[in-house]
Amino acid sequence: MSRPTLLLTRRFPDAVETRAARDYEIRRPEGPDRTLDPAALLAAAGGCDGILCAAGDGLDADTLARLPESVRILATFSVGTDHIALDAARARGIAVTNTPDVLSVATAEIAMLLILMCARRAGEAERLLRAREWAGWAPTQLMGVTLEGKRLGILGMGRIGRELARMARGMGMRIHYRNRTRLALDEEEGATFHGEDDAFLAACDVLSMHIPGGAATSGWLNAARIATLPRGAIVVNTGRGTTVDDAALCEALHSGHLRAAGLDVFAGEPAIFEGYHSAPNVTLLPHLGSATIETRDAMGFRCLDNLDAVLLRDAEPPHRVA
Ligand code: DGY
Repeated sequence: MSRPTLLLTRRFPDAVETRAARDYEIRRPEGPDRTLDPAALLAAAGGCDGILCAAGDGLDADTLARLPESVRILATFSVGTDHIALDAARARGIAVTNTPDVLSVATAEIAMLLILMCARRAGEAERLLRAREWAGWAPTQLMGVTLEGKRLGILGMGRIGRELARMARGMGMRIHYRNRTRLALDEEEGATFHGEDDAFLAACDVLSMHIPGGAATSGWLNAARIATLPRGAIVVNTGRGTTVDDAALCEALHSGHLRAAGLDVFAGEPAIFEGYHSAPNVTLLPHLGSATIETRDAMGFRCLDNLDAVLLRDAEPPHRVA
């Protein structure tokens, strides 16, 4: 029996590529390892049964409508699915799957890393040393703020938000969260639920954003919401860059209304908003949320579990989102 053909849009971890090559004929796009625009994706997809894609690949409605008839599944190497037009996939009868759970701890770790770097001015401090400008210890140099006792506001209390809450509790932070629904967390673990934005934002010494991208959340953190945060608050985003109004955030960092921001995600990656380059109180990471060896292997295996279900067993994939 002939093996199904699988398009790998990116270079994936070795263990994942090895397992994929065991069961599939592998197809690759021409050119370097970059997110694929629609034209490159369509050029590479001819004759494929499935596509193992990743965040940023151009899978808009028009591209989905033009994918070859043979494509039965898009398995994205991400929990986020904002790069895929899910309705168009449903209309075509193409299954879409993602990689929930396995990246929650790694992404929460990056959120905590950014919170710590912002609170303790670690980026500024490192740049000082690299510039050979450190004149020695001083009583008032680069003073940050203590996190113990501060209020951490988690926007979007899904799996990643809950992992971050667990870590932050261990550091003595007080947890507030804004979510569609109230969770059992309140009673069991001590976290304050907020059902509306203003009271939530006013309760954030640190705001950590964990909401998905897409039209509904575009520019969520705008000038008005930033103004509702207490003066001196820290903002961290490990969700999607599109959820932040970059100009408004830069202005608040510049004016001193916000103490600092830590960003792992950006609208229009890999480009980043120009104002961030010159803001000393912003820490920038290149979308590292899930970038651990263990997590990236687990994400790839989850993709292959979904592909195997559809393409090898004609079965329902375990992590179907459309
Ligand atoms: C995700 O899984 O959505 C991460 O942002 C990596 O793309």
